[in-house]
Amino acid sequence: MIKGKVVIITGASSGIGEATAKLLASKGAKVVLGARRAEHLKQIADEIEQQGGQAVYQTLDVTRQSENDAVVKLATESFGRVDAIFLNAGLMPNSPLSALKTDDWHQMVDVNVKGVLNGVAAVLPEFLAQKSGHVIATSSVAGLKAYPGGAVYGGTKWFVRDFMEVLRMESAMEGTNIRTATIYPGAVNTELLSTFSDKASLDQMKAIYDKFGISPDRIASVVAFAIDQPEDTTINEFTIGPANQPW
Ligand SMILES: NC(=O)c1ccc[n+]([C@@H]2O[C@H](COP(=O)([O-])OP(=O)(O)OC[C@H]3O[C@@H](n4cnc5c(N)ncnc54)[C@H](OP(=O)(O)O)[C@@H]3O)[C@@H](O)[C@H]2O)c1
Repeated sequence: MIKGKVVIITGASSGIGEATAKLLASKGAKVVLGARRAEHLKQIADEIEQQGGQAVYQTLDVTRQSENDAVVKLATESFGRVDAIFLNAGLMPNSPLSALKTDDWHQMVDVNVKGVLNGVAAVLPEFLAQKSGHVIATSSVAGLKAYPGGAVYGGTKWFVRDFMEVLRMESAMEGTNIRTATIYPGAVNTELLSTFSDKASLDQMKAIYDKFGISPDRIASVVAFAIDQPEDTTINEFTIGPANQPW
């Protein structure tokens, strides 16, 4: 059941996060949007409200614990509780290791790994206290298969896979009823390629996205499906991408 659920979405200012926010709100969820670009969030929240949905937003840099905590506070103050968090903020500045783009490596670890840790740390006290909650995270097909140019990005997405699986297992053992869903998208047409700093890697990846990329609406519908499941059921892994992409 989606109607009435309070769902926090990180990385909600574009792409998969934006599409998911709009879809969930159209199905009656109360959405709480976080990302760094406040003007995008405002526009998305306004659009949701014009369509009769409910949305609040707050500037969020997922690398800062205090800002993750503030988004959870906004959710509880606005809507009384949190039912689900979609840990979706991420970036993919791929490059060969020999290019030594160490700033990109560290930024990916900060956002794709520590951002997930910070989001979970912010929401877990609520979920443990209410003995329910749903953690959904965007990994990638890069979290399932290695490929040249994606050593660090793939590593961050492998981390998400392992972390989410242990979260699910520990919650089941501890009886806290926290469900997990990890999403592994293939090529999806979003703003993700704008984070590349290595021109050759960008050109290579752009050719793949131009050929295969699908709409972020497809990923949103999978997130909605996961949230719609009955409380006693977890569907913890989804690989979803273009039918014709040989990832
Ligand atoms: N597109 C694909 O093909 C694909 C495939 C597999 C996995 N993914 C994953 O899907 C997720 C969403 O990406 P997307 O494809 O929708 O790309 P996108 O359009 O670039 O969206 C990325 C989102 O992350 C946010 N973000 C980046 N750094 C942040 C930070 N420090 N704090 C808070 N928010 C931050 C961005 O917002 P601000 O810039 O406003 O902060 C934006 O809302 C990512 O985790 C990505 O790795 C994408």
